[in-house]
Amino acid sequence: MRVLITGGAGYIGSHTCIALLEEGHEIVVFDNLSNSSLVSLERVRQITGKTFPVIVDDVTDRLALDSVFSEHKIDAVMHFAGKKAVGESCVEPLMYYQNNVAGTLILCEAMKAHEISTLIFSSSATVYGDPHSTPITEEFPLSTTNPYGQSKLMVENILRDLMAADNLSGKNFWQLGILRYFNPVGAHSSGLMGEDPQGIPNNLLPYIAQVAVGKLDKLSVFGGDYPTPDGRGIRDYIHVMDLAEGHVKALHFLSMNNVSDCQVWNLGTGNGYSVLEMVKAFEAASQCPVPYEITSRRSGDIAECWADPSKAKRELGWKAGRNLQVMMEDAWRWQSSNPKGYSS
Ligand code: WQD
Repeated sequence: MRVLITGGAGYIGSHTCIALLEEGHEIVVFDNLSNSSLVSLERVRQITGKTFPVIVDDVTDRLALDSVFSEHKIDAVMHFAGKKAVGESCVEPLMYYQNNVAGTLILCEAMKAHEISTLIFSSSATVYGDPHSTPITEEFPLSTTNPYGQSKLMVENILRDLMAADNLSGKNFWQLGILRYFNPVGAHSSGLMGEDPQGIPNNLLPYIAQVAVGKLDKLSVFGGDYPTPDGRGIRDYIHVMDLAEGHVKALHFLSMNNVSDCQVWNLGTGNGYSVLEMVKAFEAASQCPVPYEITSRRSGDIAECWADPSKAKRELGWKAGRNLQVMMEDAWRWQSSNPKGYSS
């Protein structure tokens, strides 16, 4: 298949480019480079030995999308493009709704106009809010606490409405998949690609990695008094290449099955690790100390969150195969050989 990848230069998008190319698909990348670098795509070419078109533009630009869909025969779209920082979304909600919600609407309108019906959307475990228990299945109630999460949930609801309208009209046009990511970490095993956050990282792993490499002094562990075995927050960290391979499996599923409902899959490992366990695992992989101090809880954080990934295993034949040690070794290989990320 020929797949349009919006946000294809970003962290998860670029790793998914590799997974698609390695499975023999063709790709067209569409990215506004607002939080990403073309260097990531050079690395994709270097690793896979394959070339592909890249369009630098924004998903809110309908004319740009129209011209991509006219110029390239696209079979399916994977939609990664979007803003993703929770804190920033609270300060700039309009930007989040414009990029994440309006951007998806415009993309869907353009897809419909060009009769492209298959879309895989990057959602997030954040749509489960503060879950009543763990592990979290796809049937858990949905709620969000910030504009970033709200934008993901709004898009999910829009996609469900598209499917409902199809069912009402009997058209059966859309083939829609929603992937709810848990906490993506790690990097490609080559050490050539990984996460390259701008400024001070918000997320745990890039923060730990930058402390280990000496760019940041110490990690603040947000909260030491959660009702968890060691008092620290617990998350389901998943290797970015496992996540990328989940997208290829979802694409395969949608191309083989004629679905009449939005298909939703959790992409997680089913294992939860605490912040402290993450620090220890990173120290073991890097042989570098990661100094930390325990500070107060970060507002909006929950105690624990991990997936029941059995639906993806059952329906997609997908299971995360890379363990915590591999996640950490790959993250360290990337960080230590590219201390300044793609601008190294
Ligand atoms: C993980 C754990 C923190 C930083 C967010 C979004 C989610 C998703 C991924 C995005 C928590 C602790 C963190 C630090 C710390 N989407 N922590 N010190 O909050 O689970 O999820 O990112 O693209 O939608 O909400 O991820 O990596 O920020 O935090 O102690 O400096 O690490 O409290 O327990 P989170 P995270």
